[in-house]
Amino acid sequence: MYMSTDELRTAFLKFFESKGHKIVPSSSLVPVNDPTLLFTNAGMNQFKDCFLGIEKRDYTRATTAQRCVRAGGKHNDLENVGFTARHHTFFEMLGNFSFGDYFKEGAISYAWEFLTDVLKLPKDKLVVTIYKTDDEVFSLWNEKIGVSADRIIRIDDNKGAPYTSDNFWQMGDTGPCGPCTEIFFDHGDHIWGGPPGSTKEKGDRFIEIWNNVFMQYNRHADGTMELLTKPSVDTGMGLERIAAIIQGVNSNYEIDIFQKLIKAAADVIGHEDLSNQSLRVVADHIRSCVFLIVDGVMPSNEGRGYVLRRIIRRAVRHGNKLSVNGAFLYKLVGPLVEVMGMAGEALKQEQGLVEKVLKIEEESFACTLDRGMAILNDALENIKGGVLDGESVFKLYDTYGFPIDLTNDVARERGLSIDEKGFETAMEEQRRHAREASQFSNDHNLVIQVDNNTEFMGYGTTESHGMITYISVGSMYTETLSMPDEAVIVLDQTPFYAESGGQSGDVGFFSTDAGRFEVIDTKKYGSVIGHHGNLVDGNLSVGDTIKAKVDAEHRLAIALNHSATHLLHEALRVVLGEHVQQKGSLVRKEGLRFDFSNPEAVNPDEMRAVEKLVNAQIRQNNDISTELMSLDAAKKKGAISLFGEKYDEQVRVLTIGDFSIELCGGTHASRSGDIGMLKIISESGIAAGIRRIEAVTGQGAENAFYRQQQEFIQKINKYQDRAKVLEKEIQQLKEKVAVQKSESLMTELTKIKGVNVLICRLDGFDRKVLRTMIDDLKNQMGSGVVFLGNVTNDQVTLLAGVTNDIVGKINAGELVNMVAKQVGGRGGGRPDMAQAGGSNASALSMALDSVTVWLSERL
Ligand code: SER
Repeated sequence: MYMSTDELRTAFLKFFESKGHKIVPSSSLVPVNDPTLLFTNAGMNQFKDCFLGIEKRDYTRATTAQRCVRAGGKHNDLENVGFTARHHTFFEMLGNFSFGDYFKEGAISYAWEFLTDVLKLPKDKLVVTIYKTDDEVFSLWNEKIGVSADRIIRIDDNKGAPYTSDNFWQMGDTGPCGPCTEIFFDHGDHIWGGPPGSTKEKGDRFIEIWNNVFMQYNRHADGTMELLTKPSVDTGMGLERIAAIIQGVNSNYEIDIFQKLIKAAADVIGHEDLSNQSLRVVADHIRSCVFLIVDGVMPSNEGRGYVLRRIIRRAVRHGNKLSVNGAFLYKLVGPLVEVMGMAGEALKQEQGLVEKVLKIEEESFACTLDRGMAILNDALENIKGGVLDGESVFKLYDTYGFPIDLTNDVARERGLSIDEKGFETAMEEQRRHAREASQFSNDHNLVIQVDNNTEFMGYGTTESHGMITYISVGSMYTETLSMPDEAVIVLDQTPFYAESGGQSGDVGFFSTDAGRFEVIDTKKYGSVIGHHGNLVDGNLSVGDTIKAKVDAEHRLAIALNHSATHLLHEALRVVLGEHVQQKGSLVRKEGLRFDFSNPEAVNPDEMRAVEKLVNAQIRQNNDISTELMSLDAAKKKGAISLFGEKYDEQVRVLTIGDFSIELCGGTHASRSGDIGMLKIISESGIAAGIRRIEAVTGQGAENAFYRQQQEFIQKINKYQDRAKVLEKEIQQLKEKVAVQKSESLMTELTKIKGVNVLICRLDGFDRKVLRTMIDDLKNQMGSGVVFLGNVTNDQVTLLAGVTNDIVGKINAGELVNMVAKQVGGRGGGRPDMAQAGGSNASALSMALDSVTVWLSERL
């Protein structure tokens, strides 16, 4: 029976739905609040707490098609991809789960029914494995299901070490685990390989398709196994593997979705041989890259981001092997949406973002790939003993951005290997240099030994009493502090907030009758709080009870910036998308700085939208409240936490209206209105995919506006002065042009009855210049009549000049008036110089012609 991968996924979920299971959507590839796990690597991850009995849901049976990534961490398949028929960095895991509901018998019966009844797989093609000592499962397979004993293989622990068998499944070094039974499909003896447990098990003949884990224990970090109160079931079947069987192919890469992806990759790369191994790698890697980005991972140099970067670079290198021209991976996002069917839904809304991230990352690596490859080729050609030395591997990593597995890949293709240990040594050496080069302040070396932790009293107050438990001067313990001394003082309890979570430390004073200490910064040293400052009066000793007073204005300014940071964070997620994650934060009195993941610069419209949203929230003047609750309850409430951050079991949850809810230990304003307003000062990039916003609030925002206004006024004044100077220069230039023009006009001089006459049309000249010209022309001709017509901006200007010896016969005023009437205007002036305006520009030519006639009649 043939089914498409999409149909198969649906058939599985529907089958288990018909058996009372709730269909639960796939969770993100980034496990929420689980620092023990790099990526979601199995369907059971999202149910981890259900297995442990910590979390209760309103169902006890669930089924999912979970997106998984196995690249990095405990289950890592990256290096196998492209080299085997069935390993992927990304795959979908079909699973059914029982939380204290059915156990071994139910799980085995359902699995068998689905495979043999629904999918109609021939029973004689299936073999099963069980945990060596699990007789119960043996008899279930053998007696209940009817699988013959020779098809049930017991798999022992590795060299007898407990719980190391392939048939004992554990999610990670800690967490739920238990024995399992696996179902294998025999692809036939035309393919190399042997049954599980045999020497040829690594071949592609017998493929594991379904793992049924009987969750019985919680493994602790020290290795102890705690028995779970409710034994449960966790199963997982790779969608791509079962699709290969149903579609009658031996390799996952031959199933429908991979065939389409490989074709799409071949098209964008421009390569024709669809069986090429590099195309498989690209088709595999595009899936993990895209879904990791959809789930909020951005390429970077550490943690999850670095795994993503490695996968992208590996894919780019394989494209490069096929001589691709330019960035290509991002062009595969569209085809991927198409082939993923239901599982591609999450991707649809993020397609544009994913394409941008991939393109930027591909292009940045392309800059060093060619040089790096040339160096690597060279090194591999001159290699001695078949192993590439660690120094070269490190240089490729450090200078050319070649992840170690990429270098290893290239070496392996030529039957060579790399010195991984040597690489680690070179890497460690570089880290050591970096450490030595960095400045260690005394602070880092400060060792404070006190019996009790400092209790922080300052969430609700800025003043309290406290007893001095420790004084340190120049990193040395001191009983008594006397003038003048710089010191670090520790109290048993304090209202001073110590720098943490990006919020800077408080400042203020300690005082007693005997002395006064100015606190200029507050820092954490493990669980004690150190107040840095100077003794400004008298003396202080260990054991003294002092009054501790925080500079409340300073604290408030910080609080406003901290609350505003939360609003900004949420507003960025609303405007730019859920992929925005906090990557760093600095909250000080002067303002705030917020670093976050985003693939490109935030454009001015988006910035404005963010600013507007934050300010609208401020104006709503919502309550800012904090609540202490369990981490679990906070997660349920939907509080934003930082990925990878380790939180205590009890956490503070900060809520601003119904807009923002975040885990936070900082000090905050009491209502959003207290923030006054937020003004973004700058937006910039600080690393690939990481942007930084700097902003100010409250008084700081007011000051910023005032400063800006002053700057504008200064700028306007400057421009005005400059404009005046320029206008003057222009006028001078115009006059200069007029003089030149007048000189050239003299060639057009005519005579009427022996009198010099000059009639000209000079459009575009301004009136003032024309008047200068009239005088100039009169002077030049000595005796005569000048008439100038001009159209500027559809307005007519007329000017007439008559030298004194002629004014008896010709009156300039009359002349101008005569012409003005013809162009819809009037005018007048002195007999020797007159001016008029008019609005009918089109009549000017005719009107000018009339001047000759008029003069002829009078001269
Ligand atoms: N968690 C088990 C596995 O990943 C079964 O789903 O194999």
